[in-house]
Amino acid sequence: GITRHYHFDIRYQNISRLCHTKSIVTVNGQFPGPRIVAREGDRLLIKVTNHVQNNITIHWHGIRQLQSGWADGPAYVTQCPIQTGQSYVYNYTIVGQRGTLFWHAHISWLRSTLYGPIIILPKLGVPYPFTKPYKEVPIIFGEWWNADPEAVITQALQTGGGPNVSDAYTINGLPGPLYNCSAKDTFKLKVKPGKTYLLRMINAALNDELFFSIANHTLTVVDVDAIYVKPFDTDTILIAPGQTSNVLLKTKSHYPNSTFLMNARPYATGLGTFDNSTVAAILEYEVPPHSLHSTISLKKLPLFKPILPALNDTSFATNLANKLRSLASSQFPANVPQKVDRHFFFTVGLGTTPCTKNQTCQGPTNATKFAASVNNVSFTLPTTALLQAHFFGQSKGVYTPDFPTKPLVPFNYTGTPPNNTMVSNGTKVVVLPFNTSVELVMQDTSILGVESHPLHLHGFNFFVVGQGFGNFDPNKDPAKFNLVDSVERNTVGVPSGGWVAIRFFADNPGVWFMHCHLEVHTSWGLKMAWIVLDGELPHQKLLPPPADLPKC
Ligand code: C2O
Repeated sequence: GITRHYHFDIRYQNISRLCHTKSIVTVNGQFPGPRIVAREGDRLLIKVTNHVQNNITIHWHGIRQLQSGWADGPAYVTQCPIQTGQSYVYNYTIVGQRGTLFWHAHISWLRSTLYGPIIILPKLGVPYPFTKPYKEVPIIFGEWWNADPEAVITQALQTGGGPNVSDAYTINGLPGPLYNCSAKDTFKLKVKPGKTYLLRMINAALNDELFFSIANHTLTVVDVDAIYVKPFDTDTILIAPGQTSNVLLKTKSHYPNSTFLMNARPYATGLGTFDNSTVAAILEYEVPPHSLHSTISLKKLPLFKPILPALNDTSFATNLANKLRSLASSQFPANVPQKVDRHFFFTVGLGTTPCTKNQTCQGPTNATKFAASVNNVSFTLPTTALLQAHFFGQSKGVYTPDFPTKPLVPFNYTGTPPNNTMVSNGTKVVVLPFNTSVELVMQDTSILGVESHPLHLHGFNFFVVGQGFGNFDPNKDPAKFNLVDSVERNTVGVPSGGWVAIRFFADNPGVWFMHCHLEVHTSWGLKMAWIVLDGELPHQKLLPPPADLPKC
C-alpha cells in the first residue's frame, strides 16, 4: 500500500438549511465533511487541527486499528481531546477491509456536523466480487438541528428528560423537498439508463435507524460495514446509526417517463417523541441525447414515491437481518470462532437515576432522570484517557477491571418491568488476554419502552451468530447459532424485546469502547470498554503512543 495524507482543519462555517443560517463546526468548511479515499493496505496520516472553541476528537468508525489504538479517537477512551489551537496526526493502516466506513467526531454531540465517508477500494488490480459499477455515489444520512446540538444535549442532561428531536433528516447534508423551505436543498442523483451504480450508504444520523427506498427500483446489497456479503435484492434497506452498506442500483434499460424519489425515514419502536418526517432526494435520468426524446420536459414528468415500511415494522427489520450472510468463500473466508473461551451476557437498555434534591426532573417521573446502562452500570467517562492509564499502568482512580459479567439486577426481560430500574455509575472495564475467543449475548431490557439498540464495538469486527425474541435461553438457543457464514460487522441492532449473540477473537491489543450508536443513549451511559492485553509476539503488541498525543 501507499501512504495518503489528509489535513482536517476544524473550523466554523455558516450553513443554511430550512431557511435557517447558523455557524456550525466543520472540517475544512465542508458539510458533510470531506471524503477519505484509500485502498485496502494503505496507510493514512490525517492531521487534525482544532480552530474552534470545543475540544475535538475524530473516530474512524469501523477501522480495525490493529496495533494503532492511539488513532481510534473516542474522547477519554483512547485519547484526551485535541484542544483549541492544537493538532494531532491520526496514523493507521487499513487491513483486511474494503467497502464503506465513515469518520465522525467522538466527543459530546459534535458528530452532528462533523462526519464524512471513508471509501476503501480493493487493492490495486483486485476486482469487486460483483458487477463493476459504472459510477460510485456516497449516500450519507444525517440530522439537522436549527438549534445548537451541543445545547440540546446539555439541556437534556441537566433536566433529565429526552433531548429535542432534530428538525430534519438529511441525505448528503440536504433535507430535501418534503420539508418546509427546503426544496432547493435537495440531493439529486443523475443517472443514465442501463447502468449499475454503487451506492455507498452511511447512517451518520444521531438517534434514528432509517428505512431507505428508491421508488420503482430494486437494490442489491453486496457489502455491510466494509465486509462483502452474499448479494441479495430488496426494495428497502434498514440502516442503523453506525452501520454502512454498499448496494448496487441497476437503472432502467430505457429512459422512463418519470422521475423517482429516494426517501428515508425512521424505524422507531421506542418511547417518547420521535421525528417521523421524511428526507427525500431525487433520482433523475439525464436528459436523453437523441432528438426523439428531446421534447420530454423533465419538469412535467410524474414523480414516483417509494413505499416505506411502517415506523414500527420489526418483522421487516428481522427479515432483513436474517438475509445478511458472509461470503464465506476461499478468497473471503468467514473466520467465525468455533470454540468460546469467555461467555458474557449483557443487558442493554434504559433506566433512571435519582434527581438531585429539590430539583424537578423531566425523566419518567419528577424524581428521576433518564439513564442507560449495560448490566445496570451506567458508564462514566474518566477525565484522563483509559488507554494511557492502561498503557502506563496507572489505572488507579481512573477505571476498575470489575465490569459485571451478568446483570446486577436480574429480571425477566420480557415480563412486567421491574420496579427497580435504577442503575449505578462507574468506569468499569472487562480485561481480556490476547486472542481470547469471546461470545457476547446482548439482551434488550425493554423497560421504559421497547427499542432496538444499535451496539457498536470499536477495534473489531464480530460475527452475528444468532438473534431472537424474548429471553435468551442459554440451554436451547446456542444450538441454532450460525457458525458458518454469519455476517461480520461492527454495529448490530439488539432487537426490540429480544437478544443478539456475537462472537469475536480479541486479537487487537488496546482499550476498545462499546456503546449504543443512538447518541442520546451513549450520553445516558449505554457504553463500556474492553481492555485487550498484548500478546507475546511483536505484531501482537500495542505500539507506544505518538509524541503528539494530546494531553488532558
Ligand atoms: Cu461511530 Cu464509538 O462510534
